[in-house]
Amino acid sequence: MNSEQDKSSGIAAYLQLNDRQSLSLDGQWGFYADNMGAFGLKRSRNIFEGLNPVEEDRAVEYDVDAFEQISVPGDWNTQKKEWLLFEGFGWYARRLKFNQRELEELKGLGRIFLRLDGVNYATEVWWNGEKVGEVELPFLPLSFEIEPDACQAENLLVIRVDARRLPHRIPSEKYDWFNYGGLIRSVRLVSTPHEFIAHAGYHGTRILSQQSGEASVNGTYALQFQGIANGTDYEARITLPELSYTQTVSLTGDELNVALEGIDVQLWQPGKARLYAAEIELVKNGTVVDKITQRIGFKEVTWRDAELFVNGDPIYLKGIALHEERLGEEGGKPRGLEDVRALIDLAQETGCNYLRLAHYPYGEEWLRECDERGLLVWDEIPVYWEITYADARTEEIIYNSAVRMVELSRGHPCILCHAMANETWELPERKRVMGRAFDAIKKLDPSIPATAAFNAPYRDNAYDVESVGHSIYEFVDIVGLNEYGGWYNPPVKELPDARIVVGNKPLLITEFGAAGPVGADYNAEKLWNCESQKRIYEEQLALFERTEKLSGWTPWALKDFRSTLRANGFQRGWNRKGLVSQSGEKKPVFETVKAAFAKAEAALANRG
Ligand code: GCU
Repeated sequence: MNSEQDKSSGIAAYLQLNDRQSLSLDGQWGFYADNMGAFGLKRSRNIFEGLNPVEEDRAVEYDVDAFEQISVPGDWNTQKKEWLLFEGFGWYARRLKFNQRELEELKGLGRIFLRLDGVNYATEVWWNGEKVGEVELPFLPLSFEIEPDACQAENLLVIRVDARRLPHRIPSEKYDWFNYGGLIRSVRLVSTPHEFIAHAGYHGTRILSQQSGEASVNGTYALQFQGIANGTDYEARITLPELSYTQTVSLTGDELNVALEGIDVQLWQPGKARLYAAEIELVKNGTVVDKITQRIGFKEVTWRDAELFVNGDPIYLKGIALHEERLGEEGGKPRGLEDVRALIDLAQETGCNYLRLAHYPYGEEWLRECDERGLLVWDEIPVYWEITYADARTEEIIYNSAVRMVELSRGHPCILCHAMANETWELPERKRVMGRAFDAIKKLDPSIPATAAFNAPYRDNAYDVESVGHSIYEFVDIVGLNEYGGWYNPPVKELPDARIVVGNKPLLITEFGAAGPVGADYNAEKLWNCESQKRIYEEQLALFERTEKLSGWTPWALKDFRSTLRANGFQRGWNRKGLVSQSGEKKPVFETVKAAFAKAEAALANRG
């Protein structure tokens, strides 16, 4: 998608950040919680005009300079008690003053984009009273072009975030996590030249030969440009300085896949990250008009029958599933990199080798962290439970979410697989709409397996996803099974012959576990305490250990997380299945998982 097409389809463009110069707009903004959506209807209520009731001496019903203060990035729910369950329209207002030098810096390259790293849920943007865009696309980067002439010494930026849960959205109205609304990730102004590299993603590593981590590989650099003038000579130049590698290719349009062939590299391995600097230049009539740098890695995922391989070696996936919710009594979206690192540090204490970033796309800083740490990543769009596939708006959000998530993530070596659904119900148009999304991501990133997490009812002593007949089962390369023996399904002790059926595709346990409220009376034989949580894990892990060809397993979840579905006395608005409490207090089951991961690692090493 490019900006012209994006404008026509009403979706904000994807502008990759890279190392571009940008002006951060993170910090304090004015905020108004508008549960009626009444503003913006007629002149006296158009917040985006920033009128002042006293100066105008008229019935102006708002005053952006009298709004309450709120921090960006961050959900609004955990910033003021009154806003905890607010799910309406959040109006954000920020007056931006630029001196002459700042204006020249902002305008100097030629184009200016307002870039939002992620919003929940829908977004509308006004700059100095003029609408610059609107989009219904949650949790993914959005960019809106600002005309340089519209940038003055004093400016008013107004953003309306619509966080309502609506049937046509993904997720729809009911889901087991908290609806944290607002500008949940960073906001900035990015300057680019008239013609520029909109995004570049190295992916598709294929190993030609390898010897203990050194390999000769093929790969693809997917490039997209904006502002390319017809009839002008452009070239794209890719340089990997450490490998003394340069390739220059003529441009024939605003998209280009550059084949990298027979490069000798050190592979990016789980647990042993290896990144290389990459420089991408756009050359016009022999002059470099744009240049970005990235850090890329060479890693291959392959699958054959029910076996999964990374860089040609069989892999046993020891996962941690989590929500993008920071540690602490209040929860809330991460407010910065330190919140993200605290969660990943905690996950890595278990000895995991992959993270299931459930159930929606996370901020790109998670992917950069996992690239650096050698952690594999399952990323996921929020097609969850009950979805109105037959609604054209739903179809568009699903398609755009799938494409945007893969455009964002495919350039990161940490990516293990792309997930398109979680426990979705068989509803009208599910197969057609999801087939389009799976098809789109396989075209964008054919070397990464597509997946989904499924339920499988316990039937005839078995959990057998294939036998359920999910209409989207044919689209997945890897099968995720959310299997709750001992919790939603009968206790394993009543199922001595229980088995998990692995068909002809790799199968991974993507969720299992039980609630373990910290402080509840210990009783291994009754639910709703940490002792029985631990016992259920032990029974489940024994079942996984005796399941031939299983590709791995993933406890649900790293930490207790907010969910209004969880309303009994043990939970009070929090899902208590975490390995740790919402503040990070480890439960006994944390050590159980850590020991089981170590045992699985040793078993794999013995398999040789
Ligand atoms: C489901 C679902 C999760 C949910 C979990 C639970 O499998 O995928 O989002 O939180 O079960 O019941 O705790």
